[in-house]
Amino acid sequence: MKPAPFDYIAPRRVADVLALLADEEREAKIVAGGQSLIPMLSMRLARPEVLVDITRVPELDRLGVDAAGALHIGAAVRQSAVADDPAVRDGWPLLAAAIGHIGHPQIRHRGTVCGSLAHHDPAAELPAAALALDARFVVDGPRGPRTVAAEDFFVATFQTAVEPDELLTEVVLGPQPGRGWAFEELTRRHGDFATVGVAVLLERADTSGTVRDARVVFCGAGPRARTAARRGAGADRHRGRRAGGRRGRPRRPRSPRTRRRHPRHGPLPARRRRPPPRPRLHHRLGALLMTPSSPTPAEAPAPVPGTDARRAGTPPLSEPSGWHEVRLTVNGGPVIAEVESRLLLSDFLRDRLGLTGTHVGCEHGVCGACTVLMDGSPVRSCLTLAVQCEGRALRTVEGLAPDDAPLTPVQRAFHECHGMQCGFCTPGFVMTTTALAESAERPAEPEVADALSGHLCRCTGYRNIRRAVCQALDERFGK
Ligand SMILES: Cc1cc2nc3c(=O)[nH]c(=O)nc-3n(C[C@H](O)[C@H](O)[C@H](O)COP(=O)(O)OP(=O)(O)OC[C@H]3O[C@@H](n4cnc5c(N)ncnc54)[C@H](O)[C@@H]3O)c2cc1C
Ligand code: FES
Ligand code: FES
Repeated sequence: MKPAPFDYIAPRRVADVLALLADEEREAKIVAGGQSLIPMLSMRLARPEVLVDITRVPELDRLGVDAAGALHIGAAVRQSAVADDPAVRDGWPLLAAAIGHIGHPQIRHRGTVCGSLAHHDPAAELPAAALALDARFVVDGPRGPRTVAAEDFFVATFQTAVEPDELLTEVVLGPQPGRGWAFEELTRRHGDFATVGVAVLLERADTSGTVRDARVVFCGAGPRARTAARRGAGADRHRGRRAGGRRGRPRRPRSPRTRRRHPRHGPLPARRRRPPPRPRLHHRLGALLMTPSSPTPAEAPAPVPGTDARRAGTPPLSEPSGWHEVRLTVNGGPVIAEVESRLLLSDFLRDRLGLTGTHVGCEHGVCGACTVLMDGSPVRSCLTLAVQCEGRALRTVEGLAPDDAPLTPVQRAFHECHGMQCGFCTPGFVMTTTALAESAERPAEPEVADALSGHLCRCTGYRNIRRAVCQALDERFGK
């Protein structure tokens, strides 16, 4: 067991979540997707007494557009559900683009939008997107619900306006008709947290190129997501500026005094010396800024219904306890097991069920060796608690070709293309590729690259793995 002991409870009502958070006897912590919190528990950087899982609360699992055209994202809604939602892609493409930069699909299938905002890693993409989109945060707690503006929400690194006894219930984004947008970031590796990133939102006053409203927000550039330029600020200076071009404003001739201070003519006095410049993202932004964005409110998509019906008839609040009975399906067969709250899914599969094909490498969500399919989507089993799998359908590599059945096309492709050497990373790659091959349509090349980026291989150099994935997809969808 990696995490220190804790009790786990999965309430069905917001009121029960708040009651647990208000309990002064025991320190309770919310778990949403667990993609940041579970590694912290495993490293024992966090040691709550009670973990309150909010993902089973139907009230929090709502994603939809209201009559005024505003987008509501409940606290239990996963990042991938938001990014894949047609209404979000049409109306809030900046948000969908920002989510696309978060880790890998395996992380986004579990992580929630509100979890990322409440966590407030200063290098995270979503706080910057929320500031650019002027999000409103709905927070509930013992003193009643309140709404916090984006500018007031992010306080400092890993600190927001949400108090320990409060819950961020939803984030609300107003309609963004006809806005130009861009989200760009620099990372060393696809899927890493941003070294530096920028979200830009522009509103043109007319067709002449005058900018009425401009917002430029950075992440990874300080202790919190930061707005570098705001609505109306210097809008006139953008007049006549073309994508990637120079400003229309003539340059002031440099005075002899300025020339003396220029670095080429000697160092600046100490108090005027500036830190080295951040990477120049604006060069790449120019061409992107004028991308048309959301439809007008009149064109806004119809509300997306909540998921109450799916969760109707769920059992009432159970007593918190260190041990739980979980019922799930593993490789098509029912499993009922008593598990301790802190047992990771990876350890449950390997040690309790003997499914050692699920490998364990980093146990921080980075290497991908532990990837399994949960309800058809690849997820990290080292970032999931066994107790969170109640009612879920899991598939591991053992389930692909059981009892000497012929290899699946994906397994065969890895074999024929020699897509492995030591084989440590292979079950993870195979499970992610299986999910790609089971898509309704052939995934586009960037989608395939994004999915594979969630796996590390120390042996192969990836070339044969990519060949194997292409062969499997060709066999499934045709060339
Ligand atoms: C390999 C890897 C790569 C990643 N890369 C990126 C990346 O590039 N960019 C990025 O932004 N993130 C990245 N992440 C983090 C990921 O996006 C997390 O999903 C996200 O930071 C937290 O969301 P969660 O739902 O998993 O929250 P959890 O991990 O469940 O919770 C995080 C914290 O927020 C609190 N919390 C959660 N929900 C609420 C709520 N509704 N109200 C109040 N408090 C709440 C929890 O108590 C906890 O303290 C990465 C993670 C991994 C493992
Ligand atoms: S990602 Fe789970 S063990 Fe590395
Ligand atoms: S084949 Fe050895 S780690 Fe990938």
